Amino acid sequence: MTTNAALIARREAAVPRGVASAHPVFAVRAENAELWDEEGKRYIDFAGGIAVLNTGHRHPKVMAAVAKQMEMFTHTCFQVTPYESYIELAERLLKMAPIEGPAKTIFFTTGAEALENAIKIARAHTGRAGVITFAGGYHGRTMLTMAMTGKVLPYKKKFAPLPGEIYHAPFPHAPFGVTVEDSLKYIDMLFRADIEPERTAAIVLEPVQGEGGFIPAPEELLVALRKLCDRHGILLIADEVQTGFARTGRMFGIEHSGVKPDIMTVAKSLAGGFPLSGVIGRAAVMDSADPGGLGGTYAGSPIACAAALAVLDVIEEEDLCGRANHIGARMKTRLEAISRKNDAVPIANIRGPGAMIAFDIVATRGTDEPDAATTKKVLAKACANGLILLSCGVYSNAVRLLVPLTASDELIDEGLDILELALAA
Ligand SMILES: Cc1ncc(COP(=O)(O)O)c(C=O)c1O
Repeated sequence: MTTNAALIARREAAVPRGVASAHPVFAVRAENAELWDEEGKRYIDFAGGIAVLNTGHRHPKVMAAVAKQMEMFTHTCFQVTPYESYIELAERLLKMAPIEGPAKTIFFTTGAEALENAIKIARAHTGRAGVITFAGGYHGRTMLTMAMTGKVLPYKKKFAPLPGEIYHAPFPHAPFGVTVEDSLKYIDMLFRADIEPERTAAIVLEPVQGEGGFIPAPEELLVALRKLCDRHGILLIADEVQTGFARTGRMFGIEHSGVKPDIMTVAKSLAGGFPLSGVIGRAAVMDSADPGGLGGTYAGSPIACAAALAVLDVIEEEDLCGRANHIGARMKTRLEAISRKNDAVPIANIRGPGAMIAFDIVATRGTDEPDAATTKKVLAKACANGLILLSCGVYSNAVRLLVPLTASDELIDEGLDILELALAA
């Protein structure tokens, strides 16, 4: 058996520091909402590999579907000899996606790749270049998605020049003093100052900003953006990479608003731990790219498609949307109680739909003043006591809870006990 410390030393010698790890813990085994490290220590997983494990680590149904697929074939490339599971998965997603009229789905491997391709499709359909995204939004680390991402540190610093024709609008959030009206006024100003609507291909946003701090897009904003897009022939793209697959208590985050996007991007929990992403959109839009213009060697891997079909079964059979609402309510009740404790680190703004829960760590009770240093300490303390947590937010002071929706109430309570201990001042 090796140790975490020995692996950190090897990692530092062999792996560049640009890929950072949240915790000094090397995984060897994981099951549902628990994982074990190199030293045999057990952790409760409230990170889910960054929102990938809504169905938990190694769900038995997902593992069985993958094992069955591995007996058949592991790779042919859909562009060479296609296979039925890709089509079946596309059909199943189309049945559940809130897209108006006939729709189509294409698969890729990572979330960023889905976003890149959503923009390619939007540009092919509209013949326009411009893309409007939001401050605090996160869409990936590739060249185009880095430009779309609305956070400089650590995602853009040192990587200029960025691709052009990307514009950021402020995202409404009361603690930042930004209202829906402010966001819409700013977009109107963008149309006057930087890019005319006739040159704008798409407006892209997350129904709940993920990396940006678990900030829900107000329904009023989504409704207004839908109208704005309709008026100007702009495509509305919902980035559901983090909000998808029951996390928010609905299959997709945008369903809370009733707004129908033209295109959706999905990834993460779609395939329960296997790399798979997709772009779902109106058929007329999706067919705009010419044959051969879209794809990728591993895009829509048969192993990941088999996993995703099982994931969709599990979400339905185990009512994970219902579980998300139950888990979220349980967590919020506990966090509210912690927020009232005078001897605890001050926390504020407990928020999020379903089980997409976050709270801020603030310098002084009753204020919104971010405290990133204490947030870092709380995460380290929780990890030392056996709980894996992640932070997020433009000010790096939000703690996000992404426990698998398949976790038992007992395990979640045990995790919350460790969190409470970590928050003891
Ligand atoms: C909303 C959103 N979009 C896109 C991405 C990029 O996905 P990936 O890391 O798989 O490229 C992420 C990843 O965190 C995300 O949260």
